[in-house]
Order: sequence, then C-alpha cells, then structure tokens
Amino acid sequence: MQLILFDEKSALRPVAPFSRQLLKWIGNKQRFAHEIVALFPNDIGRYFEPFIGSGAVLATLAPVDALGSDNFLPLIEIWSMLRRDPVTLKAWYAERWHRFKSAKDKVSGYESIKASYNSKPNGADLLFLCRSCYGGVVRFRQSDGYMSTPCGIHDPISPESFSLRVDDWHHRTAGADFVRLHYEQAMDMAKEGDLIYCDPPYSHTQSILYGAQAFDLSNLMRVIDRCKKRGVFVALSIDGTKKSGKTDCKLPIPEGLFEREVFLNCGRSMLRRFQMNGQSLEEELVADRLLLTYQDPSSR
Ligand SMILES: C[S@@+](CC[C@H](N)C(=O)[O-])C[C@H]1O[C@@H](n2cnc3c(N)ncnc32)[C@H](O)[C@@H]1O
Repeated sequence: MQLILFDEKSALRPVAPFSRQLLKWIGNKQRFAHEIVALFPNDIGRYFEPFIGSGAVLATLAPVDALGSDNFLPLIEIWSMLRRDPVTLKAWYAERWHRFKSAKDKVSGYESIKASYNSKPNGADLLFLCRSCYGGVVRFRQSDGYMSTPCGIHDPISPESFSLRVDDWHHRTAGADFVRLHYEQAMDMAKEGDLIYCDPPYSHTQSILYGAQAFDLSNLMRVIDRCKKRGVFVALSIDGTKKSGKTDCKLPIPEGLFEREVFLNCGRSMLRRFQMNGQSLEEELVADRLLLTYQDPSSR
C-alpha cells in the first residue's frame, strides 16, 4: 500500500473548501471535505455516501448523481426535506428558533424542543437541536436512544442565516437522493465505475454518540471487498484521532484491500511519528486517514 501525506498532493485537482455547515454533527468532515474530494477519481458514475451524517463531503463534491444514506431516520427526514421542500425545512428551523427565543429563558426553550424530540424522534426537532445543543454534540443515551445533550452556550444562528444555508445546500445536493438504509444495502447498489465514500462510526468516542457500540468494522471490510471486486471505487475515512498509546488501534484491515493510504491535514513532522507498519500511529498524533481501493485519482 502506498502512503502519501497531504503536503505531497499538490498535483491533485484543487477543490475549493466549503465550510458553511447546514447541520452540526459530531465527527463531521467539513474541515477536510475538500481534501477528501481532491482524492476522488475524476470520472465516476454514481456517487454513494452510505454514512451521510451532516453530508459535508457530498455537499463539497456537489455530484450530478448521488445517493446519500444513513440508518438514522430523523437525519434522513432532514435531508429528504432539503431536497423535496426547502421552504418547509426553513420553516422547521424558524418556528423552533422563535419558540426558543420567546421562552422565559433559553434553557427552558431548548428543553421543550428536546422533550418534543424525545417523545417522538423527528427531523424537525433534531434540526434545531443539532444547531443549538452544547458543543454541537448530539448525544443519545445508549439504553433507549434518549437525546441527552444540554443546551449550548452559544446563540443558534438566525432563521435568515439558516435560510441562506438551505439555499446553498439545496443547490449543492440537487443531484442526490436521500434514503434511510443500512450501509450494506446502499453499498450493494453500487455498480462498476461508481464511487463510495465511507465515514463509519468507528472510534471509541463515536460509539456513544450513534449507539454504534456494535459497529462491526470487519463486516464493512467484507462489503468494501465485494465492491472493489465489482469495479466500484471506495474511499474510507478511518481512525481520525489517536489520543493515547494505550488505546488498541489495531483495525481489521485485510491485506491488499486498499491501494493507497493518505493522511489529511497533518504537518511534515508527522512522517517521523508514523510507524511504517501501516496500521498504527504514535501517541498524540491527530490526523485524518483515508484509505483508497484505487491508485491514481485521475485514472480509471
Ligand atoms: C462519522 S458519522 C458521518 C459523518 C459525516 N461524514 C459528516 O461529515 O458529517 C457516521 C454516521 O453513520 C451513521 N451510521 C451508523 N451506523 C450505520 C449503519 N449501520 N448504516 C448506515 N449508517 C450508519 C450514523 O448515524 C452517523 O450519521
């Protein structure tokens, strides 16, 4: 497997950064999205993003034909409404923002919307909660899926500002359909020449956020292998942050599945800290790692 660092990728096609998030979502790739897109093949069929989250990569790519999916239904309700009826999406946000602002204090305004979400999980409440919760970290209780994040200290953006983002995102996602699917169902739909970008909930910290404690990375590897054999290109983001040497970071990455490994957004000094066995990083290293089942992004 070939290793390259982001600094060495100057020959790749430039992709403009796009930083105006529609949703706040933990583990989102907004900061790296343009670097990830720069490593995609130039000529692809359909684009698949089976762990869509806040859609940072899809919106940066702005594909002409795409399927964005996730197994979290309230999130897909937001994406579907963005596509189908952006006016209603704006109204969802504005109505809750006004309710929040006219409450006796911001905590009680926030808590009433959180209670509404928890009594019946839905995209409209989730939309406002993700923009107004503490640190933008939407967190769910493992036992029953209860959304537990307290009110944020910042002021959520105004309905006017949110509406401008909706217009931008509606335009950027014009080629996409959004469906609730398990990643395996979505990835099995991809055909030769299509591209799949995977950003699974792999890390210890993310497991408490998406109820992903049972996420089976080995199964994802098997699905990627099937895709590669069909001639589908796959890019996989994996183990973004390595905090401590104590955490076991051995990942079930089959030999020969990936052709290329890329570290995004990390300085030159990183080379010294990288252990060349391909699967482990030294302590304190913060990087975003991308594994590609193909070599040169310009080749097919
Ligand atoms: C790390 S987040 C993706 C973040 C995204 N790249 C972004 O920029 O916001 C992982 C996503 O995978 C979803 N997910 C977890 N398990 C899944 C599964 N089995 N099938 C499909 N989606 C899943 C979660 O709901 C979450 O939105």
